[in-house]
Amino acid sequence: MADVTGDRSPLGDSQGLGRAVILLGPPGAGKGTQAQRISQRYCLPHLSTGDMFRDNIKRETELGRKAKPLMERGELVPDAIVLGMVADRINQPDCAKGFVFDGFPRTLQQAADLEKICGEHRLGCTLVLHMAVNPELLMRRLTGRRICKAGGHIYNVYERPPKREGICDVDGSQLIHRPDDSEGVIGERLAAYDRQTQPLVEYYKSRGVLSSVDAMADADTVTQGITRIMDGVKAPR
Ligand code: AP5
Ligand code: MG
Repeated sequence: MADVTGDRSPLGDSQGLGRAVILLGPPGAGKGTQAQRISQRYCLPHLSTGDMFRDNIKRETELGRKAKPLMERGELVPDAIVLGMVADRINQPDCAKGFVFDGFPRTLQQAADLEKICGEHRLGCTLVLHMAVNPELLMRRLTGRRICKAGGHIYNVYERPPKREGICDVDGSQLIHRPDDSEGVIGERLAAYDRQTQPLVEYYKSRGVLSSVDAMADADTVTQGITRIMDGVKAPR
């Protein structure tokens, strides 16, 4: 994925941010699109709980078998399952200098447990980037989304089509429509967001760690807004 904002961050490759960066927003807000970009720019691992579940489903693991029917209905996977998977991932050495979360936390319980995990790993204060988008735009973005089978590169038939229909520009693999991107399931996912995830906005606001990003703008403008915020954040000592 191209680094649309040019140079790497002054924090560069070696330092990392030393904190958890959370992209918080409804389905279709652009969390995955932006996480891929900032992960590259700041040399931070991109942790997408949705991608982790999809990978488990593909490999037909026990975890995948539990998550599949819930994801197909647009419901959240139970906290205990998500948290075990996330804790295992954060224990990997590449997460020592921080990471970017895309799709986690999604409940108040997940947020409280993440706080504990970050404390155990001596990571600094969390940075939460809240990406707000109106529901009509979300429906268009999600029904138009296509994802590359091999590398997860994200396209949109309306906003960001590939050069050759159905083929990824980056690695030539097939583009697929996510099974939960049908209108009925999108409605359920948006309802689950309002019910279970939206309360995190107040939770993080009250802790003074939430920054709002205008996620209605085009993807490059959103990236610029995010990097302005992240470049203003110093790595903790
Ligand atoms: P997950 O995979 O996280 O899906 P989601 O939250 O529904 O979010 P999406 O991936 O649909 O949207 P996005 O914000 O990443 O948007 P994207 O960048 O692709 O979760 C799937 C499921 O897994 C959940 O429903 C749940 O069951 C389970 N799950 C995952 N995490 C869980 C957790 N923590 N707890 C419990 N269960 C969990 O962009 C969308 C489209 O818009 C693309 O086509 C893109 O090209 C386009 N686009 C992006 N930005 C822009 C822009 N600025 N302008 C124009 N188009 C844009
Ligand atoms: Mg995503």
